[in-house]
Amino acid sequence: MTTNADVPEGLNGVGATALGVAALRAQESRRPDRLFDDPYAQHFLDAVDPATSPWAVAETPGDVDFLRLTAEQVALRTRFLDQALLHAAQDGCDQVVLLACGVDTRAFRLPWPTGVRVFEVDFADVLAFRDTVLTQHGATSTCQRVEVAADLREDWPRTLIEAGLDPTRPTAWLAEGILYALPPEATDLLLERVTAASAPGSVLALDHVEDSELLRTTRAEISAELLDLWQGGPAEALDTWLARYGWRPSVHDATEVAAHYQRPTPAAFAPERADTGHAWLATAELP
Ligand SMILES: C[S@@+](CC[C@H](N)C(=O)[O-])C[C@H]1O[C@@H](n2cnc3c(N)ncnc32)[C@H](O)[C@@H]1O
Repeated sequence: MTTNADVPEGLNGVGATALGVAALRAQESRRPDRLFDDPYAQHFLDAVDPATSPWAVAETPGDVDFLRLTAEQVALRTRFLDQALLHAAQDGCDQVVLLACGVDTRAFRLPWPTGVRVFEVDFADVLAFRDTVLTQHGATSTCQRVEVAADLREDWPRTLIEAGLDPTRPTAWLAEGILYALPPEATDLLLERVTAASAPGSVLALDHVEDSELLRTTRAEISAELLDLWQGGPAEALDTWLARYGWRPSVHDATEVAAHYQRPTPAAFAPERADTGHAWLATAELP
């Protein structure tokens, strides 16, 4: 276990949600009917002193209402986005960019086609924390992997291109667990930059979660800072927003994806409840 001082700054506060997601991936990985297996997720939790993170709840994320409510959505989104990225790679996107990757381990756990390069973008200290844990556990990547330390508020496309991304070739992009935490104008800038760095044939895979009374109430139980986590995301419906930037979107409600994977409707997005909202999973292709 690391000490408080070892928890990277980027995984404090709002960034700590990356550890909350890891707790849910670890939980899903323990299910016999799991939708994916992330054998490293628990190691990130084990590496953090529980006193330093509200998310370091290790094997009992179900004890935290917010995590219990978002568990199904995280399981569904992980599987859906795994499939979306693998399909894009099989269809010719031999460069994959994981934006704000947190402790994502797709570069280690997915069966990438030969020759795929996965670029992992996050703050330097988050990448270093992830590296330390993965190295300790002997993780081996299943692709060529390029870590890109960058701040998404700055000129990250230039950093990515300097790191080797070729914007003249199709890219598969991942924006997972990001949109809802950005205000509308920041999502516009993000998509503008992704689009500008994308060649025809590129694919964008993403999720988005609408805030709701139920999510607000359960976030408030954890911290006031977390209550402010939702910043709205795109100002328009996802398909309209993606199409406005020239992408051909395919957007699915989380309830539809749950039915597809034979999982119950996630409680946080149950349409019959007045205090819930929607969650979506989407892919989009640039013609
Ligand atoms: C909710 S987590 C999502 C992580 C990952 N995509 C997932 O779903 O597991 C948010 C991540 O965004 C990163 N992040 C937040 N603001 C950022 C910024 N301005 N530049 C780069 N990364 C950022 C944090 O460090 C954290 O790892």
